[in-house]
Amino acid sequence: MIVTREAIRFWRHGRVVEAAGFHPRTTLLDYLRLQERKLGTKEGCAEGDCGACTVALGRVRGGRVQYEPVNACILLLGQVDGAEVVAVEDLVADGDFHPVQAAMVSHHGSQCGFCTPGIVMSLFTLYHEGERPLTREAVNDVLAGNLCRCTGYRPIVDAALDACGGDPDDSFTQSSERTLEGLTSLADGQDVFVGGTDGFFAAPATEDSLAALYAQHPDATLVAGCTDVGLWITKGMAELEKIVWLGRVAGLDIIDDGTDALVIGATATHAQAYASLARIDADLGELMRRFGSAQVRASGTVGGNIANGSPIGDLAPALIALGAELELRRGESIRTIPLENFFIAYRRQDRLPGEYVRRIVLPKPKAHEVFRAYKVSKRFDEDISAVMGAFRLTLDGRRVASARIAFGGMAGIPKKASETEQALAGISLDEASSWGEALAAIGRDYQPLDDLRASSAYRATVARNLLFKALSETASGQTHATRIVGRRDALEAAE
Ligand SMILES: Cc1cc2nc3c(=O)[nH]c(=O)nc-3n(C[C@H](O)[C@H](O)[C@H](O)COP(=O)(O)OP(=O)(O)OC[C@H]3O[C@@H](n4cnc5c(N)ncnc54)[C@H](O)[C@@H]3O)c2cc1C
Ligand code: FES
Ligand code: FES
Repeated sequence: MIVTREAIRFWRHGRVVEAAGFHPRTTLLDYLRLQERKLGTKEGCAEGDCGACTVALGRVRGGRVQYEPVNACILLLGQVDGAEVVAVEDLVADGDFHPVQAAMVSHHGSQCGFCTPGIVMSLFTLYHEGERPLTREAVNDVLAGNLCRCTGYRPIVDAALDACGGDPDDSFTQSSERTLEGLTSLADGQDVFVGGTDGFFAAPATEDSLAALYAQHPDATLVAGCTDVGLWITKGMAELEKIVWLGRVAGLDIIDDGTDALVIGATATHAQAYASLARIDADLGELMRRFGSAQVRASGTVGGNIANGSPIGDLAPALIALGAELELRRGESIRTIPLENFFIAYRRQDRLPGEYVRRIVLPKPKAHEVFRAYKVSKRFDEDISAVMGAFRLTLDGRRVASARIAFGGMAGIPKKASETEQALAGISLDEASSWGEALAAIGRDYQPLDDLRASSAYRATVARNLLFKALSETASGQTHATRIVGRRDALEAAE
């Protein structure tokens, strides 16, 4: 029998902290600022966009402590169970600035200073985990979720390049063995249940515990990374009383990169799934690079992106085009459905009370199949798509034998382009004149909405143009005439 723990436990300043009796909606930011009275971590937007609240979480991965940046404003306190929490105040050691803080000073990387603690914490994670040799592009990627309104990024990027290019050597590396021991001791495999039956934060440790708890409380809110649910709390003022966090369920974050298929467990974060998705296709890698920010990718999960049923989520169209299947579990019973059948209507999914998303099975494209995915958004980084188009073309020589196409942002759900798929069967890649019927069919497949992100007419034009782009790139085998960034020919040549 699995023992239940009635408090969360995390590692802070070299010792274990226990927290019990907190409200399930309490965020990590509230804990730091209101309970610990550590005011270095700022609140800017309270919706994961500005990065002022960035802190680092240390977790044991691959036998060592790995640091990731998270937005404390939309992370629940309960989600730090088993992790080390590092806030900006913790970086100064024996009265000396941390190397990233010293570099920010010497490069004049701060003016009003409101963004600075968050930027310092993002750079702290780059200092520990960033690729070597460090590139300007890698610095830009890690700072994509940190908004600075007054300094300008040039001095901040210079500080990062100065401080984060070598082997890490700070008080955290010096105490890493002790931290590793501490974190390992926290991984007790117990279910966590803080509160009572009318209101609780629960973190089951196994799938059986999760299935049983959710069957008992089908009205509870499942939380994976909380990058969507967090906004319901901070912006929607949702009064969620029962929260079941999936982040401790053993095995639910599996990534099994097989020869023919990639299996991604529901709680695998975008950061964890990134490399395997990028290996399937360079466009999937580029999509993941542009998914939110480093903070959002560290918390947000593949399962959460599917389960929320958003019509503008980025992964659903790409995974539908690739022919993904979804595995769901309710109690003891597990079923598998084609991903496209999961989305029934706007924000309505084929999910029964007490049922949860377990894993996604993604067949890999074969040698004669071409995949393309394009995200169109107002900003390059940290922005939700206006239109997201994904295409898998099965070729028979220079002809398209069949196609799977899905779009986000074009309907109330992520939706396949069935008429367009039919119209593409048999067209010649060498005769652009044969593409007209398929390009016109996009207009029959979708009647997109007008909203703040884009007008209906804009979306319809973009979708048609993205199909034309996919066909042109497939026909020519090149992307230098169709792309400014993410050129596949350059990426493929570099491999
Ligand atoms: C600043 C910012 C930028 C973002 N950028 C992007 C972007 O570029 N592209 C994009 O597509 N999205 C983006 N998002 C949205 C969000 O990050 C993603 O949808 C993310 O994948 C959600 O995953 P999560 O684990 O955080 O979900 P959560 O917030 O934990 O949950 C989301 C929903 O799914 C349900 N749920 C979660 N896991 C399961 C499960 N296993 N079974 C059943 N139900 C489950 C929850 O109950 C909830 O209804 C952004 C969000 C923010 C705040
Ligand atoms: S306060 Fe803006 S991301 Fe958290
Ligand atoms: S220093 Fe003012 S917002 Fe960055």
